[in-house]
Amino acid sequence: MEELRKVAEVDLWEGENPAPRDWILERVVDADGILVTLVDRVDRELIDRAKRLKVISTYSVGYDHIDVAYAKSKGITVTHTPEVLTEATADLIFGLILAVARRIVEGDRLIREGNWNKPWSPEFMLGKEVHGSTLGIVGMGRIGRSVARRAKAFDMRVIYYSRRKHEEVDYEYVDLDTLLRESDFVVLTVDLNPETYHLMDYEKLSKMKRTAFLINASRGAVVKEDDLVRALKEGLIAGAALDVFEREPIGKDHPLAQLPNVVLTPHIGSATRETREKMAEVAVRNLILALEGRKPLYEVP
Ligand code: GLV
Repeated sequence: MEELRKVAEVDLWEGENPAPRDWILERVVDADGILVTLVDRVDRELIDRAKRLKVISTYSVGYDHIDVAYAKSKGITVTHTPEVLTEATADLIFGLILAVARRIVEGDRLIREGNWNKPWSPEFMLGKEVHGSTLGIVGMGRIGRSVARRAKAFDMRVIYYSRRKHEEVDYEYVDLDTLLRESDFVVLTVDLNPETYHLMDYEKLSKMKRTAFLINASRGAVVKEDDLVRALKEGLIAGAALDVFEREPIGKDHPLAQLPNVVLTPHIGSATRETREKMAEVAVRNLILALEGRKPLYEVP
């Protein structure tokens, strides 16, 4: 805020996130720039009201909440905060892999609910080995690569699928069906766009091994959630670990929250103090640079 106030008059929503839509629609009329988060929908209606707008800076790497094509057609620059959140998000993804495979959250719940009432026994709470297994990464961008590096330390075989082969990475490129067939862990790190919307539906889920797990910390709508619930109930896959959902927040009555072999976290991929501070710095720098007519650090392509 200090940096912003040096160069601009700032209208700040001081209540809880998200700012009410009406408040945004009213304030955007006179704004040269806006700084939003992923819960603020920047659509045609908003852009049409913002006649002076030069830059939309989002405090997130994802930009599916913004009508980027329409903004660009109006000459508005759209910026985001990649890179600074890559490692934190990859850490969370690895945590999800370990949590779901080794039943860490289930074990914690068992104790807290007072149900650990038998002594140690050889077949109690058996999980799946992470080391030495096959990790399939869908999308080989920054976060995918960062997860792959961690996987190497766990002696995992890493395969990936993305729109194109990335010559600069030394992992096996396969088609999506092969990835689904061979992976013990399928990790989604793609962004949400019309091509990836509901990418993981019943048909795709049924191609996975029955012993495999699905991990999603990208956007909820990359997975067709009803299909995932069905696949889990039918035992088509062994489990899932999810940080994102089609409609957030979800409550304890959500069908996914009824299933024991699912680990759920509340969209916290980048939620470390260090990373959130860096995201704030980048979002502000992007905004100021674009307002000054200079090249921002990260413009949405
Ligand atoms: C979080 O989901 C982000 O896009 O930064």
